[in-house]
Amino acid sequence: MQSDSQLQVIVGQDIHGKNEVKEFLQPDHVYCGDARELLRRIQPNSIACSIWSPPYFVGKDYEKYLHSYTAWREMVGEVVRLHYSIIRPGGFIVINIADILCFADLNMPRFQAETLNQRRSPVTRDDVLRARAQHPQLNRDQLAKLLGCSEQTIDRRLNGNNIRGGKYATQTRVKLVAGAVERWAKTAGFYVYDRRVWVKDPTWQNSEWHSSSYRAVDEFEYLYFLWKPGSTTVNRRRLSPGEWAKWGSRAVWFMPSVRANDDHEAKFPIDLPKRAIRLLTEPGETVLDCFIGSGSTAVAAIQTERHYIGIDLTPRYVNLARSACAEAIAAKQKALLDQAERPVPSIQPMLLDV
Ligand SMILES: C[S@@+](CC[C@H](N)C(=O)[O-])C[C@H]1O[C@@H](n2cnc3c(N)ncnc32)[C@H](O)[C@@H]1O
Repeated sequence: MQSDSQLQVIVGQDIHGKNEVKEFLQPDHVYCGDARELLRRIQPNSIACSIWSPPYFVGKDYEKYLHSYTAWREMVGEVVRLHYSIIRPGGFIVINIADILCFADLNMPRFQAETLNQRRSPVTRDDVLRARAQHPQLNRDQLAKLLGCSEQTIDRRLNGNNIRGGKYATQTRVKLVAGAVERWAKTAGFYVYDRRVWVKDPTWQNSEWHSSSYRAVDEFEYLYFLWKPGSTTVNRRRLSPGEWAKWGSRAVWFMPSVRANDDHEAKFPIDLPKRAIRLLTEPGETVLDCFIGSGSTAVAAIQTERHYIGIDLTPRYVNLARSACAEAIAAKQKALLDQAERPVPSIQPMLLDV
């Protein structure tokens, strides 16, 4: 198991000629703490690529400390800003993020949905409006009796259905993230270099609204590539020609979601950081994930012979990520040993039919 060890580097001398020492985070370690604190302790220009998926502002336990959308946007914005000095010139940040599909908006008018497929009573909104105009003295209960339907039907016809969360909950709308990502990049000195879409499994269980509205089921997320100006090597030989055709040059990545989210509630599949690592970095370079969660990016780095630095605020996830790294290292060592012990096939002379 790793400890929170540091690397001491002499960064200069003070006016008395005494060495000034800075403690940098070491590669191949996972650290527990707030990304906004720990990113300040990463060696400048040492990261080839930083790949992460931040909290999405959707009410998960690990983001409860972010009390408002503004607090969330400022937190991620600061994290992007702190990357500028640590990403090497020509390097990248890859952000995996999604639009906020149920953004509560107090100012949003009630969605006047008439969900015909769910309608059990033939009474229409026009019937109710007509009856109310003819009998303005009747209350909702009396209107229901008059029209031969339930009080709830009257209420639904008059007020519409809410999307998710019951009729008295705040209405929700879609909040797009692209604008925020662009502003984070620009403020920090990065350029939005590319955007891809990750098509995952449809999350029907999270999409109770799909039967009572026109909203589509949630089944894709984004990958935004931010570039730090500098010299970038484009090496197509990192992938095979088949891989280039299938995903290296493609804007849409099809990848099943992680099936078992029992140990962490928002893992991305290891193939996702692995593709970004293979596309954008060379073996031996260092990859960072400052929201490492279950350790997926570090595992991908180990499997592809890159170094990693991981950071997470939640101690439970730090332990999970450290265990995942230990397992990935053990599997890698076993594979190397198996390979070394495999007998070298003897070369048989070719028998030629003459
Ligand atoms: C979407 S999850 C990342 C999941 C990860 N990609 C994986 O595959 O397991 C976001 C993570 O960010 C962590 N987190 C939230 N706020 C943080 C902060 N300020 N600094 C560091 N980590 C934070 C959470 O504990 C959570 O594990």
